[in-house]
Amino acid sequence: MGRISRLPDDLANQIAAGEVVERPASVVKELIENAIDAKATRIVVTAEYGGKKLIRVEDDGLGMDPDDARLCLERHATSKISRADDLGAIMTLGFRGEALPSIASVSHFRLRTRARGSESGTEIRVNAGIIESVVEAGGPEGTMIEVADVFYNLPARRKFLKSDAAEAAQLSRFVTQLALCYPEVGFTLTSSGRKIISVPPVTSLSDRLYQLYGDRQDLVQVDREFGGLRLHGFIAALAEQGPVRGPQHVFVNRRIVKDRTIAHAILDAYSVATNKERSPEVHLFLDMPPDQVDVNVHPTKAEVRFKEQSQVHQLVRHALGDALGKGPAPELTLRTSDVLPGHPMQPSIPGSLHGGSFPSRWDPPEQSWRPGANAVVAPSAPQAPEAPQAPYSTVRPMIALGQFRDTFIIAMDDEGLCIIDQHVAHERVLFERIMEKLTTESLESQRLLIPAVLELPPAERAALVGKAEALARFGFEVEEFGGDSIKVTAMPALLDPNQCDSALRALAEDLEGLDRGLRIEDALKQIAATTACHAAVKAHYPLTLEKIHHILEELRATAYSTVCPHGRPVMLRITRREIEKNFDRI
Ligand SMILES: Nc1ncnc2c1ncn2[C@@H]1O[C@H](COP(=O)(O)OP(=O)(O)OP(=O)(O)O)[C@@H](O)[C@H]1O
Ligand SMILES: [Mg+2]
Repeated sequence: MGRISRLPDDLANQIAAGEVVERPASVVKELIENAIDAKATRIVVTAEYGGKKLIRVEDDGLGMDPDDARLCLERHATSKISRADDLGAIMTLGFRGEALPSIASVSHFRLRTRARGSESGTEIRVNAGIIESVVEAGGPEGTMIEVADVFYNLPARRKFLKSDAAEAAQLSRFVTQLALCYPEVGFTLTSSGRKIISVPPVTSLSDRLYQLYGDRQDLVQVDREFGGLRLHGFIAALAEQGPVRGPQHVFVNRRIVKDRTIAHAILDAYSVATNKERSPEVHLFLDMPPDQVDVNVHPTKAEVRFKEQSQVHQLVRHALGDALGKGPAPELTLRTSDVLPGHPMQPSIPGSLHGGSFPSRWDPPEQSWRPGANAVVAPSAPQAPEAPQAPYSTVRPMIALGQFRDTFIIAMDDEGLCIIDQHVAHERVLFERIMEKLTTESLESQRLLIPAVLELPPAERAALVGKAEALARFGFEVEEFGGDSIKVTAMPALLDPNQCDSALRALAEDLEGLDRGLRIEDALKQIAATTACHAAVKAHYPLTLEKIHHILEELRATAYSTVCPHGRPVMLRITRREIEKNFDRI
């Protein structure tokens, strides 16, 4: 007798269920997706014990007539595709006809549905895949599905479920994501009696974002089209001082997707502007013709395959890069209670407003106010010459007022007062200039009259000498000098020779700390950041008004001008509104 036999249907269904349904959250995802495909405008989700005990999803969608209600529980029964060709351009979230039979085969399952416009509905009960009853039933138009004791008949799977809290968290993550993706649909999630999400239908993504996350001025909008693809959404600004980690939501053609190409492009975009390690908050929507993406490549549809992967990478990287460059400077909020009555501000603080020019009104030259024109102006100075287009500039034209404590530049623009960290601003400017120059040539070098000899720990020494070639592009010449030492014969012209020692020690430390398999561009970026940091004006350093103007002017012509290469903010702004509010003028 042969050794092969056909598996009984119920066992085959349970195995299939193992692929489609990983945990309670995947049941919720499948049921909500069905409701969305059925054109629901409101979806109500209830979960008990993280969904392990009970999941209920109610919708006001199209519903099903009695025949469909029976059919939907059979495997490979679907209303969404009918021919092989349909697979090439899937417009619905579901397409396999597997979710409901899979879920019903591993739970106590109840379906109640009434087709729109129909007099009565149908209720079907299923236990572990076996239909127990089918009866006519009342109830509103739409569909209600209840899934109790998921995996009760598959102890091997049930054992792997996490704590109620962890399952509940995952479940609410899915509901949040689907809610973000479908603002026109209202969602409610009640978990163990607590209302977690309750968002009525709205007309735009930004309204939905507001419902879910509150006022998020710190997010930057992205919107870019390229080659038939559109990417839009909101992402964390660079200068954000809060957590460096946040939810990363990526949707392709309105599906929740985890995609390595996109994830990589996101990190790439952030790393262009800063070395700070982060996993930034993003809510990104990529839309493309359905024949450009295969959605039928993953058992829970969590992944997709792009026809033109590199095009997707480029779009995401460029769209985010541009948007980040446009991120706003963080705004300061004033608290009047900080100013104690009877303690007037000192009229003059040593070192404050050093070299300030105190212009009394905002009066920028006409031409400089145009976007792209370089419009940092000295009051009463001749008109600023037209500078080359500054496509990134996020900094408004400013009038410098002076320097505070030899560390901060104080300036005003037409809508606010700005406090600029002189070191961080100059560092950003220099970093950008260095990176620009490196794309075509090496930096200018200066030969040291007397070569410097540095003693360094072995690992750091090896890191420096190992990157001698990269360092040479910056103008550094370093070589082994026997024993614990290295010899430096030349350094970048933009560094003060007094800085040589400290700059190289910092570089040695940075390079040693970096991953050995590091890409050369990343090493260059690290060297550029450290060089810029050492070449930039320091805090507690008096600046002339000319130098202040120069830094502000350069800053406006610089990409990503609101954040330094290490991720620190360059400037803070107090808006006119904030000032007026605090003086009770509005
Ligand atoms: N909430 C609902 N409202 C109306 N019809 C539904 C609903 N849920 C399921 N159906 C019907 O039942 C069918 C089977 O659903 P099921 O989720 O098993 O498969 P699918 O959505 O077609 O594909 P997939 O397995 O990829 O999800 C659907 O094609 C749809 O016609
Ligand atoms: Mg489905």
